[in-house]
Amino acid sequence: MPLVDMRDLLRHAHANRYAVGAFDLVDTRMLEGILVGCERAGAPAILSVAESHFRHFDPGPVLAACVAAARRSPLPLAIHLDHGESLESIERGIALGCNGVMLDASHLPFAENVRRTRAAVELAHACGVPVEGELGYVAGAEGEDAELHPGEIVYTSPDEAEAFVARTQVDFLAVSIGTVHGRLRGTPRLDLERLAAIDRRLGIPLVIHGGTGLAAEQYRALAERGVAKINYFTALADAAARTVHAAAREDPQAGLLRLLRDVREAVAAETERACRMFGAAGRAGEALAACRPWREVEHVVLYRPREGLDGAELAAMVEEGRRQLAKVPGVRRVFHGRKVAGRDDWPLGWVIRFASAAVVEAYRDHPLHLAFADGRFRPNAPERLSLDLEEW
Ligand code: 13P
Repeated sequence: MPLVDMRDLLRHAHANRYAVGAFDLVDTRMLEGILVGCERAGAPAILSVAESHFRHFDPGPVLAACVAAARRSPLPLAIHLDHGESLESIERGIALGCNGVMLDASHLPFAENVRRTRAAVELAHACGVPVEGELGYVAGAEGEDAELHPGEIVYTSPDEAEAFVARTQVDFLAVSIGTVHGRLRGTPRLDLERLAAIDRRLGIPLVIHGGTGLAAEQYRALAERGVAKINYFTALADAAARTVHAAAREDPQAGLLRLLRDVREAVAAETERACRMFGAAGRAGEALAACRPWREVEHVVLYRPREGLDGAELAAMVEEGRRQLAKVPGVRRVFHGRKVAGRDDWPLGWVIRFASAAVVEAYRDHPLHLAFADGRFRPNAPERLSLDLEEW
């Protein structure tokens, strides 16, 4: 199950001066293409979903597919929420399977960016999940996604970057040094001196948004100056779209399956090309060895209901538990069940999935859990057996 800790993955890339591609995907066809491309390149990767795209697809099933695919893959992979807009988005992303999240408040004044990012860090770190913040602003030029990033580029200042990281405790910082989201107009001019200065000051993995459209030597120059994650979307989307246009030209009556037939291969080829340009090709084995596996935890509570608890009361308690416990950050699934086989000691039980072992403590002390456990559950379940099982 090479779903790995994104901190370890990006620290390895940062220390070894290559960049991991964070490939934004919008459906399972892109997911398959990205994984094929990374396997051909032997590259670690980040499967990424951008909140700005959620009007086009439901992140629940797509993230479930990412988790399932990552577990089957031989590559070290992490799953990331890109451009998270709010604390609620961060919480939801973690619940749906992300083990890295971005809070993007880069369009706001410095103090407000710090305040919101700091809150996201507190929430995500309590779940064991690392956070990317952004300082400076990466605007859009044109193409698939660009209109979602209006305005002009604001370059990241090294002084502010240092203060931002110290105050927010982000694990990775997205910086603005001349790239734009979407398609580029003309030749991009990157401020590599600024990037090198930020890297010297911070010493944490840096992130580039607007990864599409640079020259191979520019990607190398970024990685040499501390960029460990490059966000990449438009080039994949354009490669996919070109095959759809070609199929439609070839046969104006083409059905959906014909139109989409070559999408996966186009995405795979572009992904492989990107991994090679980022210096990530051939790094999967060493990166995997350097990364802690990402392990979920199942919190198991077996219980016997108190004498005299009637069926309606029990059902109401279970319903409240399902509702309230699912709201605790880091909880991915709340299951309540009754025994269908085995010993009679414990006729009922909860199995609650946590994003990681860090959630054990945060959950125990969380007001929603305490209110349910002390106010409703424990009085009705005097005999209990609970344990936390880490995946192993
Ligand atoms: P491009 O679409 O320019 O590759 O940028 C992707 C990105 O930065 C997503 O966060």
